[in-house]
Amino acid sequence: MCGIVGVVSGSNVNEKLFNGLSNLEYRGYDSVGMCFINGSNLNIKKGVGKLEEVHKKVDFSKLKGNIGIGHCRWSTHGRVTEKNAHPHVDCKNKVSVVHNGIIENYSELKDELIKKGHKFCSQTDTEVIAHLIEDNLKNSRIEEAVRLALSRIEGSYALGILFADEPGKLIAARNESPLIIGIGKNENFIASDVPSILSHTNKIIYLDDREIAVLTRNSHKIFDISGKQKPKKIHTIKWSAEAAKKEGYKHFMLKEIHEQPRAIADTLNERIQNSHVVFEKEFGLSDDYLKKINRIVIVACGTSWHAALTGEFMLEELAKIPTEVEYASEFRYRHPLMGKNTLVIAISQSGETADTIAALKEAKKYGVKTLSICNVMGSSITRISDGVIYTRAGPEIGVASTKAFTTQLAVLYLFTILLSKLKKTLNQEQIKGMIDGIRKIPLQLQTVLDEDDEILECAELYYNKLNSIYLGRGINFPIALEGALKLKEVSYIHAEGYPAAEMKHGPIALIDKNMPVVVIAPHDVYTYKKVLGNIEEVKARGGIIIAIASEDDKLIPKKAKHTIFIPKTLYTLSSILAAVPLQLLAYHIADKLGRDIDKPRNLAKSVVVE
Ligand code: M6R
Repeated sequence: MCGIVGVVSGSNVNEKLFNGLSNLEYRGYDSVGMCFINGSNLNIKKGVGKLEEVHKKVDFSKLKGNIGIGHCRWSTHGRVTEKNAHPHVDCKNKVSVVHNGIIENYSELKDELIKKGHKFCSQTDTEVIAHLIEDNLKNSRIEEAVRLALSRIEGSYALGILFADEPGKLIAARNESPLIIGIGKNENFIASDVPSILSHTNKIIYLDDREIAVLTRNSHKIFDISGKQKPKKIHTIKWSAEAAKKEGYKHFMLKEIHEQPRAIADTLNERIQNSHVVFEKEFGLSDDYLKKINRIVIVACGTSWHAALTGEFMLEELAKIPTEVEYASEFRYRHPLMGKNTLVIAISQSGETADTIAALKEAKKYGVKTLSICNVMGSSITRISDGVIYTRAGPEIGVASTKAFTTQLAVLYLFTILLSKLKKTLNQEQIKGMIDGIRKIPLQLQTVLDEDDEILECAELYYNKLNSIYLGRGINFPIALEGALKLKEVSYIHAEGYPAAEMKHGPIALIDKNMPVVVIAPHDVYTYKKVLGNIEEVKARGGIIIAIASEDDKLIPKKAKHTIFIPKTLYTLSSILAAVPLQLLAYHIADKLGRDIDKPRNLAKSVVVE
């Protein structure tokens, strides 16, 4: 939930560290700090607030050195204070630590260390690590001292560690928190994610759990927790550094919303061949296995959970496979029933969400096959599942997920086509119709993006409302949930997503002339007429109706105060098109309110703690 970056180089690393932290700020922004070694002294500056705010107070540019570590915090243990900001040091000011994760046994360790005479300055779990290493340094060299300290620690960590007495060495370690190594020319890096260091190197090593890396500017060695050296593959990343920049957009969220036609086109690319769906070799599940699946369980959190609900609808409706969607955080703490032909799918943009990783690990205990749908190559989820389908959204920096969501829907749609073919629940003509439908989506999305005026007008009229309701039915019920989540996250306006017909069982009491009600009502043979009835119910009580309707709809504009049109498409695909105006609505409202859209309060991009 925090961001970590570190560099060891042949020249001053100040700018690289500062920029790296700025790229990582989406992961946590309640406090920030840096540590450099100059000569054999640790020089630390840190403070409460965002990077630029703290920079104004402490002037990070005064820190100089060829080696440094930095941290941006999203607090878990200890309030947001300067003392609790990272880096943390030992009693002698010789060991400096930045940490992402939670040390579960820190309180026992802290008591033990205090009895031995260690003095603590913060309320964090992290400081324990610096003192534990210090304690081990009495009898061991630094690598061994780190290894011994980590073997006492329970919980999750990604660590960057500097030693004043070894000014050319950067040590990193990970367990259940993301950390990568970047191999540069005459310099090496550690970071919480790839984009933060991509302008310096695209050669990446993914650390696995319980691994320790020892970096100098021209060497890297990786060890397991027993001290045995491990060979590691160096991956070449194809994302460009530019992809992780704003490119003239006011916010990453807006840029990422506008990238969706390209993101969906990339996600489809080469996966549709002669009206067949073909996934790459990392998909890893054979046709014979897929034919046998008789149940699917999907685990995910947040926006990815909404994508999962949409997937449930597609898989049951078209491939006729019973599908259940579980919050990953709930799944991990019960004893789910798994049959031998149950497939468990984990959906995650980052591939690092702690609850989703834990749910996947729980599923694996039952011996069932697992598949991940993920946006980040080499992330934890992709490495522990039997197969992977990558969404090709590119780096998503805005905390509010947008392009990752619609590409997840596209992947679920392709997977449904594949299963429907193998299970013979659809014939070739129907499959061709589905494929023709999704091929049109990138262009259709562009037309939605090009007609932003009505959405802007709604934002201008209603940005000062305190509440709102989002209604949808069938495949568009999860889109109502997603629209409400987007608004809550970036504008801090209370919003509820509801199945349109369920509203009359309670929430209708909330409707009055101050309540904007967003109704997703594309033309379809299933629920359209019923949704018209639901619109009447809201209208009769004075609610302000903002409808998302199909382009040729003549009825809805007569009933709704505002109508935002989306192109005609298949019912299952209407969810992708309907999601985009809701993202834009949330964005424009938050912008009118002057919110910090890419870094909303209390949130972080990847929730890597329970
Ligand atoms: O990286 P993941 O998809 O696993 O993340 C799951 C949620 O934390 C994430 O979708 C969160 O809800 C977003 N902020 C939504 O915009």
